[in-house]
Amino acid sequence: MPTPESSCKRIDVRSDKKEQSMADAGSPSGSPRSPRSPKRFLLCSPDHFDVTFEINPWMSAERRPDRRKSWQEWNDLVANLRAAGAEVQHFPSLPGLSDMVFPTDVGVVAGDRFVRGRFRHAERRDEAAYGAKWLLEHGFAEIPWPDDPDLFLEGGDVVRFGDVLLCGNGPRTSPATATYLSRVLDRPVVTVPIVDPRFYHLDMSFFPLDDRRAIYAPDVWDLEGQRAVERLVPEPLVIGIDEALSFCANSVVVGDTVVMPFCPPRVRSALVDWGFTVCVSPVDEFLKAGGGIRCMSLDLDLLATRVPQP
Ligand code: ARG
Repeated sequence: MPTPESSCKRIDVRSDKKEQSMADAGSPSGSPRSPRSPKRFLLCSPDHFDVTFEINPWMSAERRPDRRKSWQEWNDLVANLRAAGAEVQHFPSLPGLSDMVFPTDVGVVAGDRFVRGRFRHAERRDEAAYGAKWLLEHGFAEIPWPDDPDLFLEGGDVVRFGDVLLCGNGPRTSPATATYLSRVLDRPVVTVPIVDPRFYHLDMSFFPLDDRRAIYAPDVWDLEGQRAVERLVPEPLVIGIDEALSFCANSVVVGDTVVMPFCPPRVRSALVDWGFTVCVSPVDEFLKAGGGIRCMSLDLDLLATRVPQP
């Protein structure tokens, strides 16, 4: 079985990037923010990764992932995240938890605490306990849920932009979850209702780059969500459904490197103009289950600091 250390690195950098100085990176606000902030991710290895049930439009039991390719892509991703400067921890999956390779959904980490995911579909519910076990064993304290069986939360619906949390709802997370998160995490939460079922988690249509810039596909959301995001993001890169279908919004930023499953040409030029380095780390086997790089990398520093209360 391959190990993370045996993986190759596919760093894909446009050659003209190096010729740009930080000062003329092409944006009025200059280079990406906080390049040295810590970035820790938790990944789950694909020991039991498979597509045996169908809970999103991407999954088909007729199109199962290839085991060897899954390991190769996963090892490459670990290597690429580390090469970009992230600290990567990983844990093995369990038999039967075929979607556990997407640990982002098991909860929302806020400093040394976390809110456990509450999955919409029975097929994924056992992942929440297994992911929570890892977090509890590694020093994170659990924030309890109220006793309400109608509240659902999948971590892929929760994205941070500056001091604000965006919370997608509709296909997976329930609308009322946003109020609960805002209260227990002391944050303003903007809700974004999702209307296109192909993008059932918010992290497939909204990708924050820093606290001014984000890539997003507004056609995935209702009008209220579109207006809310427009008001929030000073420097957007708006993408169409065709571009979003490549999973380019399901990416992560480490310092000034953007690690992506695929990068459409227009997105690449905007990122390079903004001073980012693009690292494409293909995860095609995982896309068969409807998940990309953000889904595969639970951000342990999503809410590293609390917003000071007025
Ligand atoms: N097959 C998984 C599901 O349907 C994919 C999870 C994708 N996760 C994400 N954060 N977008 O739940």
